[in-house]
Amino acid sequence: MSHLIEAQNLHKSYGSLQVLQGIDFSLNSSEFVAITGASGSGKSTLLHLLAGLDQPDQGQLAFEGLPYPQSGKALDLFRNQSLGLVFQFHHLMPELTALENILLPAMIAGNYGTKPEAHARAIAERLDVADRLNHRPDELSGGEQQRIAIARALINQPKVLLADEPSGNLDRGRSEELYRLLDESRKVWNVAIVVATHSDWLASKADRRLHLQDGQWT
Ligand SMILES: Nc1ncnc2c1ncn2[C@@H]1O[C@H](COP(=O)(O)OP(=O)(O)OP(=O)(O)O)[C@@H](O)[C@H]1O
Ligand SMILES: [Mg+2]
Repeated sequence: MSHLIEAQNLHKSYGSLQVLQGIDFSLNSSEFVAITGASGSGKSTLLHLLAGLDQPDQGQLAFEGLPYPQSGKALDLFRNQSLGLVFQFHHLMPELTALENILLPAMIAGNYGTKPEAHARAIAERLDVADRLNHRPDELSGGEQQRIAIARALINQPKVLLADEPSGNLDRGRSEELYRLLDESRKVWNVAIVVATHSDWLASKADRRLHLQDGQWT
């Protein structure tokens, strides 16, 4: 059985700044992996590569044994179907309600109607945000926005959830909340999780923790 995600020898530079210098990474089904490292160590850069949002300068990425699609519709479809992304800024659409935001990836996949809506409501129920679904993002608290962003990431039943905790967020309460949501997601939807975090506490809850420094694991 191949890994869900397998990355080999990833390199990524921005001009003369070498951010990733030969990173290997593999992710098993339902695994929870935490990536730590100082600000600027390349956590978000790596998550972007794993998410197919950016291309490595060198190295390979595979999902369930098949190379990531290079670009275009195939890559969009892969991201839409197989990965759930929760990034530092939640990027909720301001003019859509919370429910519409959750449903957006389903609509992009061509799934409309009562079935995805029932699924969205069930996820929202699990994440304790079911009573906020008719509100727009600017009417939600930061924590509620995060929960809506996680629900949106889960709507297409991805096998992997990639989450980038807001940087510099050392508030233990918020890390505990994020952990609770991620752990719930893993238990209920059997999704593997990769989270980039500054929280030692959150990292200590993961099955495996990896630390980035000077472009490599340490
Ligand atoms: N598009 C870009 N162009 C140029 N430099 C970039 C770009 N994106 C990131 N960098 C630089 O690459 C380095 C790694 O950035 P990255 O965002 O991956 O760090 P990080 O570990 O996620 O940090 P944080 O914990 O603050 O979120 C930083 O020095 C950053 O300034
Ligand atoms: Mg980051």
